Amino acid sequence: MKKGRYITTPIYYVNDVPHIGHAYTTVAADVIARYGRMCGYEVFFLTGTDEHGQKVQEAAARQGRPPQAYVDGMVGRFQDLWKALNISNDDFIRTTEARHIRVVQGALDLLYKKGEIYLDSYEGWYCLPDERFWMEKDLKEGKCPDCGRAVEQITESNYFFRMSKYQEWLIEYIKAHPDYIQPSVRRNEVLGFLQKPLGDLCISRPKARLSWGIPLPFDENYVTYVWFDALVNYISIPGYLADMDRFRKWWPADFHLIGKDILTTHSVYWSTMLRALDIEPPKTIFAHGWWTVEGEKMSKSRGNVMNPMDVIREFGVDPFRYFLLREVTFGLDGDFSTDAMVRRINGDLANDIGNLLSRTLSMIEKYYDGIIPAAQGAEASQDTALRKGVDGLSEKVGLFMERLEFNKALSAVWEVITLANRYIDESAPWTLAKDDSKRTRLSAVLYNSAELLRIISLYIYPYMPETAGEMWGQLGIKGDITAAHLQEGCRWSGLKPGLRIKKGKVLFPRIEKIEKTEVRDQELTPPLLKGEKGGLPVSDDTIAIEDFAKIKLRIGKIVTAEGVPGSKKLLKLQVDLGDEKRQVVAGIAAHYRPEELIGKSIVVVANLKPAKLMGIESQGMILAAGTEGTLSLIGPDKDMSPGAVVK
Ligand code: MSP
Repeated sequence: MKKGRYITTPIYYVNDVPHIGHAYTTVAADVIARYGRMCGYEVFFLTGTDEHGQKVQEAAARQGRPPQAYVDGMVGRFQDLWKALNISNDDFIRTTEARHIRVVQGALDLLYKKGEIYLDSYEGWYCLPDERFWMEKDLKEGKCPDCGRAVEQITESNYFFRMSKYQEWLIEYIKAHPDYIQPSVRRNEVLGFLQKPLGDLCISRPKARLSWGIPLPFDENYVTYVWFDALVNYISIPGYLADMDRFRKWWPADFHLIGKDILTTHSVYWSTMLRALDIEPPKTIFAHGWWTVEGEKMSKSRGNVMNPMDVIREFGVDPFRYFLLREVTFGLDGDFSTDAMVRRINGDLANDIGNLLSRTLSMIEKYYDGIIPAAQGAEASQDTALRKGVDGLSEKVGLFMERLEFNKALSAVWEVITLANRYIDESAPWTLAKDDSKRTRLSAVLYNSAELLRIISLYIYPYMPETAGEMWGQLGIKGDITAAHLQEGCRWSGLKPGLRIKKGKVLFPRIEKIEKTEVRDQELTPPLLKGEKGGLPVSDDTIAIEDFAKIKLRIGKIVTAEGVPGSKKLLKLQVDLGDEKRQVVAGIAAHYRPEELIGKSIVVVANLKPAKLMGIESQGMILAAGTEGTLSLIGPDKDMSPGAVVK
């Protein structure tokens, strides 16, 4: 077992309704944790809830409940969500737990004794109805910025942490450790912030104003400021002050994942707090971007707060996890939309990986009675290309994962999935199966395809654990994928020939987009048409059956697809019609990526006069259904050999 890896998420305000922003950080941390375990690291993955403070106290009061009873009733929403999302956290911290409170008080005590915390009095403004204290700069036209009512001047005493003392040290530390705050745009933001003089941090609240907090150990009239309390969770749970051996095993944390809005509290407050406690800073604080929903900022007032449970119900856990990390670069902002989600599901998941598994298993079932054959015969050049693709993957993915470039890691895996689909198309096992002398080659192609699927399942496991487990099950592999080791598992030929496959459910059913069209009354009854004699309407554009019979429609299989230089709309396809190959130029580039077309069965108008489009000959036409904005290729709903006649 390699050294430990310690990964944290922010602890979420317990009174918040969990939304996709919370799910995002936690899924990202889960991917790092699962990947780490697979690479042989001992992992400690911590998440939890932030349960003290003004807002919680107010929310509890509104419900007429004691704060502790209120938070006990709220925490389940987060815990249930993490269960539903398959989050593999090793612990869950609630800041109201004794194990945390003891350490917060211990740390405060240490700092107080070292002179790092001092009492100071200052003047400010108090809003009596709101029971809130404001500094002069916070006021709006001299009134309470929250409720607009008059405020009265009071003198208050509070405890301060000597944060300003560490300003120079922090600047130097950030400069000397380029990986400390990531991505670099956030690092620059912090360095910019640190150009202005840093004040000391007020770390207490008078009990008279706020009682729901951790009492200061050296003054019972105060509770701890909620951020000072919350940040300490990162050290209290791995054992700081309570079990120093355990603490040294995990600290410094490898990654604190946070959102960009809580950058200052982490990079400035937390770093200086640790410094004052003589504790090494974490290795990396990584601030990710924010999600909007259908182009709009999520907010309660807009009513568009996206509940992850709803997304899971509609699209499934793994597609959601995949989408979050595939759709945008970790660190940048992203937009969550149903269209984008459906595109990913139908393209990357159903067409690419789902199709690869189902076609491979169908052929093993058909040609080898469901038993994975041994790869016999010498390696062909196509096999070598496939192997090369797989061999290069481990290093690429490893590098991307170190930098938290999840979308790049996934694209590298998808390149190999595309390679594998092409490998099957080009090797054409269905043709090999027709010729007894090609049995050896057939066994090699099917073994290699199944072996590649096994290896792919390991790479996608951190992102889509359920799917990866399902793939193992369907490939007939015994054992638990959660115990798999990536490096060992990825060695080629790990798959045992002779396993009985268990072709099961489709991994990712395609989602047909439901167009919401308004049907007006008059559209339901067709108007009387010229020539109509009661009965069925006959319009001028009807054709006789003999006319229809002139059109020869056949099933074709797309073998290759590529863009047409200079055109955004056209794709050039080579289509297998059984006894011949056709080149067809189709205007579908806005709706399909070339790689997702390979292997698709479609309907071809086979007796159309050839025509030239952008100088390229098109020998036929393919059929598709379209409404505004969507287009769907028409194809058979069962396996059909290329060339089959459409009647
Ligand atoms: N309790 C503090 C954190 C204390 S950590 C010692 C807190 N909690 S929070 O519940 O408000 O926010 C938690 C995280 O959710 C933050 O990292 C924040 O960036 C993230 N997000 C909130 N809305 C978000 C989006 N719309 N998109 C992505 N993440 C967002 O802050």
